Amino acid sequence: MSQDTNGSTTTAAPGSGGAGNGDALENLLHEGRQFPPSAEFAADAVVSAGEYAEANTDRPAFWARQARELLSWDKDFSQALDWSNPPFAKWFVGGEVNAAYNALDRHVENGIGDRVAIHFEGEPGDTRSYTYAELAEEVRKAANAFEALGVAKGDRVAVYLPMIPEAVITMLACARIGAVHSVVFGGFSADALRSRIDDAEAKLVVTADGTYRRGKPSPLKPAVDEALTKPGHTVSNVVVVKRNGEDVNWVEGRDHWWEDTVSAASGEHTAVGHDSEHPLFILYTSGTTGKPKGILHTTGGYLTQTAYTHKAVFDLHPETDVFWCTADVGWVTGHSYVAYAPLVNGATQVMYEGTPDSPHQGRWWEIVEKYKVSILYTAPTAIRTFMKWGRDIPGKYDLSSIRVLGSVGEPINPEAWMWYREVIGANAGKNGETKEHPAPIVDTWWQTETGAQMIAPLPGVTATKPGSAQVPLPGIAIDVVDEAGESVPDGHGGYLVVREPWPSMLRGIWGDPERFKDTYWSRFEAMYFAGDGAKKDEDGDIWLLGRVDDVMNVSGHRLSTTEIESALVSHPSVAEAAVVGAADETTGQAVVAFVILRGDAPNNGDATVLELRNHVGKEIGPIAKPKHILVVPELPKTRSGKIMRRLLKDVAEGREVGDATTLSDPTIMSQIAESLRK
Ligand code: WT7
Repeated sequence: MSQDTNGSTTTAAPGSGGAGNGDALENLLHEGRQFPPSAEFAADAVVSAGEYAEANTDRPAFWARQARELLSWDKDFSQALDWSNPPFAKWFVGGEVNAAYNALDRHVENGIGDRVAIHFEGEPGDTRSYTYAELAEEVRKAANAFEALGVAKGDRVAVYLPMIPEAVITMLACARIGAVHSVVFGGFSADALRSRIDDAEAKLVVTADGTYRRGKPSPLKPAVDEALTKPGHTVSNVVVVKRNGEDVNWVEGRDHWWEDTVSAASGEHTAVGHDSEHPLFILYTSGTTGKPKGILHTTGGYLTQTAYTHKAVFDLHPETDVFWCTADVGWVTGHSYVAYAPLVNGATQVMYEGTPDSPHQGRWWEIVEKYKVSILYTAPTAIRTFMKWGRDIPGKYDLSSIRVLGSVGEPINPEAWMWYREVIGANAGKNGETKEHPAPIVDTWWQTETGAQMIAPLPGVTATKPGSAQVPLPGIAIDVVDEAGESVPDGHGGYLVVREPWPSMLRGIWGDPERFKDTYWSRFEAMYFAGDGAKKDEDGDIWLLGRVDDVMNVSGHRLSTTEIESALVSHPSVAEAAVVGAADETTGQAVVAFVILRGDAPNNGDATVLELRNHVGKEIGPIAKPKHILVVPELPKTRSGKIMRRLLKDVAEGREVGDATTLSDPTIMSQIAESLRK
C-alpha cells in the first residue's frame, strides 16, 4: 500500500498487507476476512445475484417491475421515470397509490389481517400487540379524526411523539388522507420544534403527555406548549396521546385527547389513491449551515425503494420473520424501516419505547429472546456500547432466532462488526450453543436524503467484509470520484456520488429549490454529491470513510477520522474514540483523539497515551499518529448517537465550546473540560 499525491490510499488486496508494515494505511484494509453466505442461507434467499444484471440492463424498467410487484396501485403509471428536468425527478408518472392502504388494508383484504404487525414493548414493561386488522382500524379512525379537525390533503402535520404505536398510526393516517407529516424527534427542544412547525406551516401537532426514560416519566407536552406560546404560528389543534399519565397544561379548544378524538372516531374510512409524486413527508436534517433542511419525500418511489430494500437486504420472509429496527421514528431509519417498509411488506415487527439499559443492560436481548427477533437492525454506536458493557450480558439470553443483522448510520469499525457477528449473530452465550453459521451482517449506507438503503450487501449473495457496506444495491448507480468528478480506479479513494436518479431520492428541500441544487447537485456535474468520502478496494467494494468534513488533511495527506478511530478502538484498552482534525500551523491539520478507556483498563497517563499513539502508528502509519490523545470520561453525542466532533474540535483548538444544546447529555462538555483540568 502507498499513498498517492492526494493522500488517498492505494490499497493492496485484502490480507496481503504486511502485518507490522509501519507505513501502511492498513487498519481497515488488513481486513482479509470475508464471510460468504452459507449454502443453506443462499438457497433460501429471496433475492439472487441475477437481480444486479437485470437492474443494470434497464434501471427504470427494473424499478417499474418492483413498483408493480411490491405495491398495489389504484391507477397504474404510464412512465417509470421522468428525468427531463434534472435534478427534479418524477417516478412512476401518472400512477396513483395510497401508502396506508398498501401498509395495512390490502393485507387484511389478502387474508393476513390476523398477523401481528407490531409487538410494542413499553419501557416500564407494558406490552401491546396490534394485528394488521387492528392497526388498519386505528389508522382509519385517526384519518377520520384528523379530517374532522380540518386537516386536508396537502396540509402539514407535525408529529412529536415517543416510540409508541400511535406514532406509526399518526404517520400512516396522514399518508392515508394525503396530509404531509413532519416528525420531529422527541428529544428536540421546544425551539427546534417551533422552527420546524413554522418552516412547514403545520396545522396540527400530534404529541403525548410524555414517555418514560430510564424508569422515570419524561415529558413532551410542555415543549409543545412552549413552542406554541409565541403567537404567529399556524397550528390550530393539538392531539395528545396519554402515555405516562403525568399532569399536563391544557389549552381549551386547541388541545384534544387522542382517546376523545381518535379512539372515538369511526373505523370506516375509504382510502383514495394519491399521485405517485404527492408529498408523503418532510424530515428535517442538519446540513453544514445552521438552518436544518426539510428533506421532502414523495409517495410512489419512496414506497417502492423502501419496500424493495427491506425485502432484499434483510432477506425478508414476512410469514416467519420478526423484524426489529431499533431506530426512533424521529429519524429517517424509523420512517423507512419502522413506519413504512415493514408494514408495506406485511412483516411482523417489534417496537421498543425505551433505552437499552432500562431497567438493566440486557433489555434488548431479553426482547430478542421474548419475541424471537430474527432480523435486528441497529447502529454501530449501540453495538460499541454493548461491547463496553461486555459479552456476558447478551450471553445470558437465547439469541438463536437471529438470522440477519443490520447496521446503519455511521461506518462500522471491524472490531464492532466482528463482535456483532460473534456475540450476537452466533448466539455465543446461552448454553454455549454457538452457531456454526453466524447471521450475516448487512452494513447499509444511506441518508435522510436518499430515503432508503443505497449500498449494502445482499445477505444471500455477497461475501461480506467486516467494516464495508460494499455494493450498490441493484438499480442504484453509485461511484467514487476524484475532485474533478472522474471515477477513481479500484484501490483509490474519493467522494461518494450517485450517478443516476433513484426512486426514493429526495425531491427537494421544503420551500428552497435553490438550496437543493446547491447542496447536492453543484459540486459535480449531473451527479448527486452525498458529502461522504469513500474508497474502492481492489475488488471494487466500497468502504465509507465518514463525511468529507470529517476527513483531515495532515501535511497534504488525507486521513480519515474513521480510520484512526477504528485503529484506536482496536486497542484492548479503548472502549470508544473520536478523532478531529485541529488546525495546526505546521501541518495544516493535526490529529487529535479523544478516547474513553474500557472500565478495566488502567490509565497510566503519559504511558497510556504513548502506547495508544504507537498503536495507531502501527495500525495505520506514523503519519496517522494523533498529535494529542485526551482520555475523557464520555464523548459528546447527539441524541441520535452521532459524535459531535465540532465540539471536540473546539476543545482541541482551545476555543470556547460552541452550542452544545443538541447533545444527549448537555453536561458532557463540562465533564470533559473537568477531566482535562485534572
Ligand atoms: C450519513 C447520513 C441512513 C440513516 C441514518 C443516518 C452516514 C449512514 C452509514 C454506513 C457509513 C454511514 C453517512 C451519511 N452513514 N450509514 N452504513 N456507513 N456511514 O442518516 O442522519 O441522514 O446521515 O450517515 O455519513 O452521509 P443521516
